[in-house]
Amino acid sequence: MALVTGGASGIGKECALLLAKEGAKVVVTDINEQGEKVADKINNNDDNAIFLKHDVTKEEDWKQVMEQTLQKFGRLDVLVNNAGVLLVKNVEGTSLEEWRWVMSINLDGVFLGTKYGIEAMKKSGGGSIINMSSMAGIIGGPGFETYSASKGGVRIFTKSAALHCAQAGYNIRVNSVHPGWIGTAMAEKGGQFFGEGDVEAGQKLMDSSQPIGHMGEPIDVAYGVLYLASDESKFVTGSELVIDGGYTAQ
Ligand code: NAI
Repeated sequence: MALVTGGASGIGKECALLLAKEGAKVVVTDINEQGEKVADKINNNDDNAIFLKHDVTKEEDWKQVMEQTLQKFGRLDVLVNNAGVLLVKNVEGTSLEEWRWVMSINLDGVFLGTKYGIEAMKKSGGGSIINMSSMAGIIGGPGFETYSASKGGVRIFTKSAALHCAQAGYNIRVNSVHPGWIGTAMAEKGGQFFGEGDVEAGQKLMDSSQPIGHMGEPIDVAYGVLYLASDESKFVTGSELVIDGGYTAQ
């Protein structure tokens, strides 16, 4: 039984679809009601998925989502804290309000998810929490300072939470995933920045910035998430899975 936040589009949508294909019942959550369509696609007349409207920055929403998840499916085995936003502004051009907006989604959201995820997983004897970071959480890059700070926070928060769970004997693994540029709505925002308004030109630059020569696809990340969700990764916790076309190898 898996819960994916930010599951209405991009990487989260692909994770929800792949986990379902591999047999998981899935709760798709998002502030965007398009998530309903993702749940419908999984269901295909069965009762294997639901969509819940969920703002990851709101603690009350987390409480309700967990309650409804346990009511519907009885347990939580996998939590993918995927919801996130990108701010393409350098430190000088960023307001405190914008900084707090990014942190509230990318960091508060992951903190709350991990906290309530652990609580739910303890009830069913364990599980796997997968936190979506970024290559920007490992190396710096000008123009994304706030985003990088949030994703760096996700990386080290994940390791610390993993150690807490291991020491407590919870049988809960916590890992982070670090994608390079992946072709989603978020990458369009990146394209706008790098192309100075010309998304296509910007995305070409993003393609060539990846050593492998092109951006990744959401499915490239979803397979990594599937591995961390599965028992095949039972000895993996506190780790960072890099899926970035070689970007951080440089
Ligand atoms: P996306 O923009 O397609 O999807 C993000 C989803 O999060 C959207 O459906 C959006 O509605 C949802 N969301 C935003 N704020 C929310 C909130 N407060 N509560 C609940 N849901 C919320 O972007 P993409 O690319 O699929 O990103 C998914 C994750 O992957 C993010 O955490 C992002 O930072 C990370 N990532 C993406 C990369 C890329 O190049 N696309 C690279 C590295 C990391």
